[in-house]
Amino acid sequence: MKKTLAILLAAILVLGCMSFASAEAKTYKVGVSIYQYTDNFMTLYRNEIENYFKTLETDDVKYEITMADGKNDMAEQTNQVRNFITQGMDVIILNLVQTSSADAVIDEIVAAGIPLVLINREPLAYDADGKTLDESYAGILDNPTVCYVGADARQSGTYQGEMIRDLDNKGDINGDGKVSYIMIEGDPENIDAQYRTEFSVKALTDAGIEVECLDDQVGNWDQTKGQELCANALSKYGDKVEVVFCNNDGMALGAETAIIAAGRKVGEDIYLVGVDALPEAIDLIKEGNMTGTVLNDHIGQSHAAVDVAVKLLNGEKIDNYYWVNYVKIDKAYAEANY
Ligand code: GAL
Repeated sequence: MKKTLAILLAAILVLGCMSFASAEAKTYKVGVSIYQYTDNFMTLYRNEIENYFKTLETDDVKYEITMADGKNDMAEQTNQVRNFITQGMDVIILNLVQTSSADAVIDEIVAAGIPLVLINREPLAYDADGKTLDESYAGILDNPTVCYVGADARQSGTYQGEMIRDLDNKGDINGDGKVSYIMIEGDPENIDAQYRTEFSVKALTDAGIEVECLDDQVGNWDQTKGQELCANALSKYGDKVEVVFCNNDGMALGAETAIIAAGRKVGEDIYLVGVDALPEAIDLIKEGNMTGTVLNDHIGQSHAAVDVAVKLLNGEKIDNYYWVNYVKIDKAYAEANY
């Protein structure tokens, strides 16, 4: 009898402790949708979102991440967001497929009472003629539980142009008084592509350098497409091409393959710049096979996004915009820092 009582008491104690522990530990549900998993840069970014959330876990707080591939399809991503709402996510982190759908998506998430962190693709304000306004977007500004975390793409474009401007020959390899370039663009709906295209060239013209655009094509951030477009331009314009501007490193890696195949040599008879600082691009810069890139800080951006998501989970007040700086990476910088 005594023994039964002792076992019973012990069992009550164990059960009591267990329920005490589980009452303490809080698991937050986080829904993340990325515009497309095959994107090189967004792969680094999304992996770091998961890693960083893990480092913030304690005995008392856990984060259950549900990550979804938007497959570059807005209808698919809208379904994912609706599932997140049905599943009762505590916060959503969203890399939009189409920023033009921002209003509709933000409305649904806000109506469901779920805080939202938009990343990487900034929704923009437009005027009546569809022209981009250099103003913050109402869907973000008007909602205290919605914010955007990103980098100002004008800076990355300017840095690309400055790396060419600062070369001894200022990019004019054949000495004809102008810099003849080709531009390989990312997704044209994306402000990163628009600004990098504009500001890379502006850094040259602002320095009084004459430019000639031989070719400007859309490579949609994609390596294979970058290779194809660069190969075509090189066979069409040959030695005339002095600079290859790529809106990102993915396409620059493809361009580099085309440059080698065409028997050209970066740093001698052609220059090549990208954006992102993918590890493969850093290696090429150190070897002298790429002129430079611009660090698109996926660590800084993913950490800022997660930190603000945690603030929202804690009911803290947030800002509507968080900006992370780009960093210019030429050969000297790459050798000293990587
Ligand atoms: C850019 C990045 C590109 C691509 C794009 C997706 O910031 O440079 O490589 O990932 O975002 O929106």
